[in-house]
Amino acid sequence: MKTHTLLMPLDMHLHLRDGAMLETVGPLTSYTFSGAVVMPNLVPPVTEKEELLAYRQRVLTACGQSRYDVEFDDLMEEEGLGGDFEPFMTLFYQNYDREFLDDIKEEIIGIKLYPAGITTNSEGGVKSFDLDAMRPTLQAMSDLEIPLLVHGETNGFVMDREAEFMNVYELLAKNFPKLKIIMEHITTKAAVEMLERYENLYATITIHHLLITLDDVAGGMLQPHLFCKPIAKRPEDREALLKVALDAHPKVMFGSDSAPHPQHAKESCGCAAGVFTAPIALQLLCELFDRHGKLENLQAFVSDNAQSIYAICPEFKEVTLVNTPFKVPEKYGNVVPMYAGKTIGWSIEGVE
Ligand code: DOR
Ligand code: ZN
Repeated sequence: MKTHTLLMPLDMHLHLRDGAMLETVGPLTSYTFSGAVVMPNLVPPVTEKEELLAYRQRVLTACGQSRYDVEFDDLMEEEGLGGDFEPFMTLFYQNYDREFLDDIKEEIIGIKLYPAGITTNSEGGVKSFDLDAMRPTLQAMSDLEIPLLVHGETNGFVMDREAEFMNVYELLAKNFPKLKIIMEHITTKAAVEMLERYENLYATITIHHLLITLDDVAGGMLQPHLFCKPIAKRPEDREALLKVALDAHPKVMFGSDSAPHPQHAKESCGCAAGVFTAPIALQLLCELFDRHGKLENLQAFVSDNAQSIYAICPEFKEVTLVNTPFKVPEKYGNVVPMYAGKTIGWSIEGVE
């Protein structure tokens, strides 16, 4: 039997939603993670300070309670729930003025930019990358040291969307060399290559994009619970992602992009995009890094790199994992997780 301990795991890209869904999924992250970057794509999106602070409070409240009935409920009850969890809040990108940004900067970790209509609840996003129109906001963000988090996809052919977006990343990185730009949930070799080209570009990588390719989504029977944006790509793309993740390249960090949708919205005609991985992310990461003989690099990928990139100091948490099998529940509330009903190789042993 082998164990592995992680200190202060961080999920640098997470969808917690609101209301009953937040109450279901929040505690599943706060149990094992010290903090998470909380995405702002609610309906309506988070664009004002009051809303942001109220949402943060709802997240904190939800992360201290358990509302679902799964095996490790017992463990969580024994050990206390969500006491040490920090939600790092984000605003939904719009053109904001400097005064507004100056006033809100202490409350946020960054601003998330979505191209309009590219994914769930992104209709209010950016319609065209008109740098002149965006410059005052981006320059103010750069001056105030507010990172820009980007969903990097064009509305081109689905397999080429991320690669086509590299022009936009270049434009942003060149024009705002002091602005920290995070390429969120990268899925391609093209994006990995961009990391070396511009000092101010960083990236998050999900666990599902390290494990699957398009074949797993649509190569056989269609798998709605593996369908997400950006869609999983080719084997060579996954290889490129794996290399930088397993080496814990200092510019990459773990961001699950765990994106819960109710079962009926996934198993339907018109499947919503999003893979729900929050409760199994650390177990899968351990299994993957162990399989490649790289467990010693997981700490950097899942916490230390993010701490350096964002200059954050997370709440203390020590999570011990063990390589004994864990049967993934069929559901958490009304959400079906990735690998539902399957057995994975690593489990959570305890959290302190
Ligand atoms: O698959 C996705 N789901 N990709 C995103 O960018 C958004 C997310 C969601 O909010 O459901
Ligand atoms: Zn996301």
